[in-house]
Amino acid sequence: ASTLGASAAQTGRYFGTAVAASRLGDATYVGILNREFNMVTPENEMKIDATEPSQGRFSYSNADRIVNHARSQGMRVRGHTLAWHSQQPEWMRYMEGSSLRQAMLNHVTQVASYYRGKIYAWDVVNEAFEDGSSGARRNSNLQRTGNDWIEAAFRAARAADSNAKLCYNDYNIDNWSHAKTQAVYRMVQDFKSRGVPIDCVGFQAHFNSGNPVPSNYHTTLQNFANLGVDVQITELDIEGSGSSQAQQYQGVTQACLAVSRCNGITVWGIRDSDSWRASGTPLLFDNYGNKKAAYTSVLNVLNSG
Ligand code: G3I
Repeated sequence: ASTLGASAAQTGRYFGTAVAASRLGDATYVGILNREFNMVTPENEMKIDATEPSQGRFSYSNADRIVNHARSQGMRVRGHTLAWHSQQPEWMRYMEGSSLRQAMLNHVTQVASYYRGKIYAWDVVNEAFEDGSSGARRNSNLQRTGNDWIEAAFRAARAADSNAKLCYNDYNIDNWSHAKTQAVYRMVQDFKSRGVPIDCVGFQAHFNSGNPVPSNYHTTLQNFANLGVDVQITELDIEGSGSSQAQQYQGVTQACLAVSRCNGITVWGIRDSDSWRASGTPLLFDNYGNKKAAYTSVLNVLNSG
């Protein structure tokens, strides 16, 4: 097939992108979006600060613009994200203890209920583990409400929307030998053994020269899948250019295609100029919307699968 989405669909997978509501008026952007992708993740519009700017008052207008655009084009939506230490609204930032726990669970319940039936998968909890060698949970106000906050969030999400897949999403969990990867693996293993509702693990996959695509990526994805969860590449971008960047994109796509439960890849933006990285060229389309070498290498792998 000749587009990313249609090529991924040949093996039952999706190919998605992060979308910013503010760019939906840009014709070049929307043209590529509608042509190439069949899954969409709101880049910022479903985060806690966007959807509950003051406590108990919910705001969905920007998220709805993206969801409505996606649905009108037959694209599905990954919801991002219900519980996170970052992008908390001012009112939540300094909360602690049981009032925070209650506010977090109410947020999960309200937002997942509002979007019930419209979300393919939710990033229920985002980035809850520490970087480095400790393998510990990240110290945050949410973590300080008790170590069971993650499973409580997953249970609330399941109660609110029984059809959405519920994912744990994180970065730097791509290399199988890293402590953070092992720690997330043990949490998923524990959740599966105790019946905590978790359906998928999202690998953000923000790569650069200091954090390259690991050679054991396929092993990581397969080991998680073997726990009985889907695995998804959720925020892919790779710094670089030309054939070296194309080769790394090729490797990530091949690693996903080699794992039957790796059911989709999402890139974190469309053109290089849409990237959250202030400078750099980490995406599949250049600033003018032209296909880069990395685009072609991904497309070719999808069509070989
Ligand atoms: O919209 C406001 C604008 O009104 C204001 O004038 C301006 C001044 O700072 O800020 C604008 O908001 C910014 C927003 O992006 C939209 O551009 C925020 O400051 C900025 O912090 C925010 O950055 C986002 C970042 O998450 C915040 O956490 C990036 O766009 C987004 O790509 C990035 O995405 C994260 C994933 O959610 C989680 N994984 C890592 C990934 C990359 O950091």
